Amino acid sequence: MNHFLDIHKTDPAALRSMIDHAGAMKSARADRPKGAPDDEQPLAGRMVALIFEKPSTRTRVSFDVGVRQMGGQTMVLSGADMQLGHGETIADTARVMSRYVDLIMIRTFDESVLSEMAEYADVPVINGLTDRTHPCQIMADVMTYEEHRGPIAGKHVVWTGDGNNVCASFLHAAGKFGFDLTFTGPPQLDPEEEFVGLARQQGSRVTIERDPAKAVAGADLVVADTWVSMHDAQSARERRHNMLRAYQVNAALMAQAKPDALFMHCLPAHRGEEVTSEVMDGPQSVIFDEAENRLHAQKAVMRWCLGL
Ligand code: CP
Ligand code: NVA
Repeated sequence: MNHFLDIHKTDPAALRSMIDHAGAMKSARADRPKGAPDDEQPLAGRMVALIFEKPSTRTRVSFDVGVRQMGGQTMVLSGADMQLGHGETIADTARVMSRYVDLIMIRTFDESVLSEMAEYADVPVINGLTDRTHPCQIMADVMTYEEHRGPIAGKHVVWTGDGNNVCASFLHAAGKFGFDLTFTGPPQLDPEEEFVGLARQQGSRVTIERDPAKAVAGADLVVADTWVSMHDAQSARERRHNMLRAYQVNAALMAQAKPDALFMHCLPAHRGEEVTSEVMDGPQSVIFDEAENRLHAQKAVMRWCLGL
């Protein structure tokens, strides 16, 4: 049994095999209706709990569909409707859930909830986003990059804006998959030093460049995310927008990157804020492939967790 808690906590060979497996599973069911079963049904007889303490479209739907395609059953639970939201400890919740289900995916606020769930559950636990990281997203992003451009190793990724949870998982992936990462954003929103250090220790070149045009020069991949994450105080919205406006990804900024550079965004996006519609809907954008690949990448993650 394996937990999938974070990319930096996962063996690089396992990460590579999950990405390759995801691609193979995707090709094997090409053109099939979404609700049609896969030829292999590794999750037959398995029950998967999907727990959400924050809103979600992609994570909720892609996990649910992925489990069903592999023959399993799901229950989608809102944290607020569980005793979890009313004072039952995470440890007790984990022990109880382990008696009912074979796998738990949780999206939560503080990562201590995720780690406590994993510590006390007898079944695998998957991180479906915390305030600090979003590993499933980056598995899909690596898969998407490689589908379009081949190996991501040695490539130059530029993260624009807020050094947030998705940026953190990109840094983890830089170390594990061997690509370089430049962060461009205001100093107040720099990514965590610990994660920058970790990527560097693993041989990845990580740079911080305040000038977005300089940062993007020569990029193979430009990435943006919302300027206000679900865990950020709404009262900070205006201040954050003022700090981040200069980092909007627009056609002029994309023109600084390599001509064949891709644009990614985990979505949901705020059109006209962190990225223009021109870029989102333009030829370099692969945002909907990224969203689709959440499904395929997470199917591989679930199979790895269950050893199937
Ligand atoms: N990218 C992502 O995780 O989207 P959702 O919040 O809709 O799940
Ligand atoms: N950084 C965003 C990602 C959403 C998928 C958030 O945490 O709200």
